[in-house]
Amino acid sequence: GEGCLSTCRLREPAAGMLRLGIACGVGGVLAGLPLARLVRWLRLNVPARPSTPFPLLSHSEWGEALARHGDRGMFALFSSVTGGVTTDAALMTVPIDDHIIVRGHAVFDTVTLCNGRLYRLTIHLERLLKSAESARLRLPFGDDPQHNKERMRDAIESACVAADRQDADVRFWLSAGPGNLGVTPAGCTPAFYVLVFGGLPSDPTWTTEGISEVTVPLEEVPVKPKLLAELKSTNYMLNALTSMAARDRGGTFGLAVDNGGMLMEACTLNVVAIGTDGVMRTPPFDNILAGTTVRRAMQLADSLVSSGDLTAVSQEPLALKQAYAAKELFLVAGDTHLYPITRLDGKPIGDGGVGPISRQLMQLLTNDARTGEDCHHDIPALCRK
Ligand SMILES: Cc1ncc(COP(=O)(O)O)c(C=O)c1O
Repeated sequence: GEGCLSTCRLREPAAGMLRLGIACGVGGVLAGLPLARLVRWLRLNVPARPSTPFPLLSHSEWGEALARHGDRGMFALFSSVTGGVTTDAALMTVPIDDHIIVRGHAVFDTVTLCNGRLYRLTIHLERLLKSAESARLRLPFGDDPQHNKERMRDAIESACVAADRQDADVRFWLSAGPGNLGVTPAGCTPAFYVLVFGGLPSDPTWTTEGISEVTVPLEEVPVKPKLLAELKSTNYMLNALTSMAARDRGGTFGLAVDNGGMLMEACTLNVVAIGTDGVMRTPPFDNILAGTTVRRAMQLADSLVSSGDLTAVSQEPLALKQAYAAKELFLVAGDTHLYPITRLDGKPIGDGGVGPISRQLMQLLTNDARTGEDCHHDIPALCRK
């Protein structure tokens, strides 16, 4: 049988060549074989590359190998699996049987540590708990949501103090947790992880000079179903593909447009347009994520209405053609990031430069993160520095 023949194959290349030579030499015999059998016989007798096993590592060898991966800008990790915080990057891992990996059954959020304060922590924790409810995740610190919020805040604060930074990004995940490789979370222990890190890779010119952006056709990357689009789950493959498709076309993050020609959101950012009528518009949170930054930007923009720089702020459907005709167009996310879009699908937006509203809002968001009063959480040990 085929299995037997393949296990009988000669391992050494030279021996294989010898066999091939014999095969040619006995051509007379083989000539009598049907072509298909001959091809199969030859295929099975092509010398196989000898297998090279990977080593079985000891506990310390494994640890040393992880340590060699070096510092990747991760400062501290809290893990409910260990019940504490580590600042050793090599130990910042999650169990392989955690359903965050096994089935992508987890939700997350990100908060900015700015000037020793966790900027609008409550808003981010509330969105995490809402996402968790939609994802039918059990909470890690008992059943009471309020108690969970407090313990999560403690975990986040502890990780920040251990990181000993005044400014950083803090991403936290709530997972169905480790337990098995099954489908449902039955038998798993819910897990909570908090990572304090140095921020996402970005280019400073995105803010100062703006970005070129493109729309990504639905045929190339479909939009998420409503359930996944409105919660912040770890299922971000479509977001990644949107951004990759955008880069392929000379864009940056990639904008999704629905079947009716209405703008939705970028891969991980909300979109805002300033019309020639002076109205600041952003799409309703329907089939997209309720971004915390765009919500704050709308509140802060009220001061620009008062000053007469804007005529109104409105959350309403935004057509792609309105975006092309806008005075200014920009993306917001991550509490303080605002990226002006200076070209969309190759067409200049406004005068093709960074507009005055973009600049003012950028400043308002940055100031708010450093000194504003909303629902921030001060970390005394870091603020005092
Ligand atoms: C899909 C998506 N839309 C919008 C946003 C913007 O949300 P936020 O302003 O809360 O960062 C994000 C943020 O990660 C996102 O992933």
